[in-house]
Amino acid sequence: MGKTEIILFLVLANAVFLVLIAGVFMFVFKYRKRKIEHGEELKTKEEQHQLQLMNTQLSVQQQTMQYIGREIHDSVAQKLTLASIYTGQMHNRATEPEMSKPLENIINIINDSLAELRQLSHSLTDVRKQHASFAELIANECEVVNNTGKCSATLHILGNPEMGIAAKSSLFRIVQEFMQNSLKYSECSDLKINLEYENDGLKLLLEDNGRGFNLNERKHKGIGLDNMRRRALALNGQFEMESQPGVGTKLKVAVPKENLLSET
Ligand SMILES: Nc1ncnc2c1ncn2[C@@H]1O[C@H](COP(=O)(O)OP(=O)(O)O)[C@@H](O)[C@H]1O
Ligand SMILES: [Mg+2]
Repeated sequence: MGKTEIILFLVLANAVFLVLIAGVFMFVFKYRKRKIEHGEELKTKEEQHQLQLMNTQLSVQQQTMQYIGREIHDSVAQKLTLASIYTGQMHNRATEPEMSKPLENIINIINDSLAELRQLSHSLTDVRKQHASFAELIANECEVVNNTGKCSATLHILGNPEMGIAAKSSLFRIVQEFMQNSLKYSECSDLKINLEYENDGLKLLLEDNGRGFNLNERKHKGIGLDNMRRRALALNGQFEMESQPGVGTKLKVAVPKENLLSET
């Protein structure tokens, strides 16, 4: 072999070697890219699956709540009404005060229970069937809270969001659960509800000045708090809850504009 041929051979060998190395790099690079893409695809599918699961759970819950609401209204409340009528008749016939006074007490207890049951039945029935706007539904809840005389609820509204049934129903349940919790557990004197609707979507800020609690403690991990978070996430919303013992509890929920319009 002549000198030129050897040089030519070396150049060619080097070129082949370089092409091979480049090929290996390309292969590894493509393989890794594909792997990352595959991982992302799996993650998106998993997230979609979780969202579907959450929506199914929520709709089963909704149906159960409606069922209980109807049962309370049609069965328990009817029976209590009858009990109230019969006791009223006995009361009318009773001549001695030892009889009529206790009967009067019983009637009052039955009527109070009836009023509470009606309220409960009303709050359990499907928000989807109510024509009231989101703000009206919340104003109504504030009135219920204020009527208890235990704490004062105030509502501030900025803007008038266009909302589909799904967001209206879910966000209302979140507000309702927060208010019920504040009333039941916090012993607060003030409950503030702020609705702000701006270009980027709807922000809810709920705040009580009650006893607060430790969010990380197991005994405080209830279905109510979990449902609130799920409902916000199902709307692709942000959910931030803060609570400080002795100071109070705050909840921020933000839902992007486009997720407010869905009807399902
Ligand atoms: N605003 C609040 N103030 C004080 N404690 C609260 C408040 N909200 C929730 N909690 C605590 O967190 C727990 C879990 O609440 P939740 O998930 O709604 O369950 P439930 O209402 O069924 O007990 C409550 O039992 C209560 O101890
Ligand atoms: Mg609760």
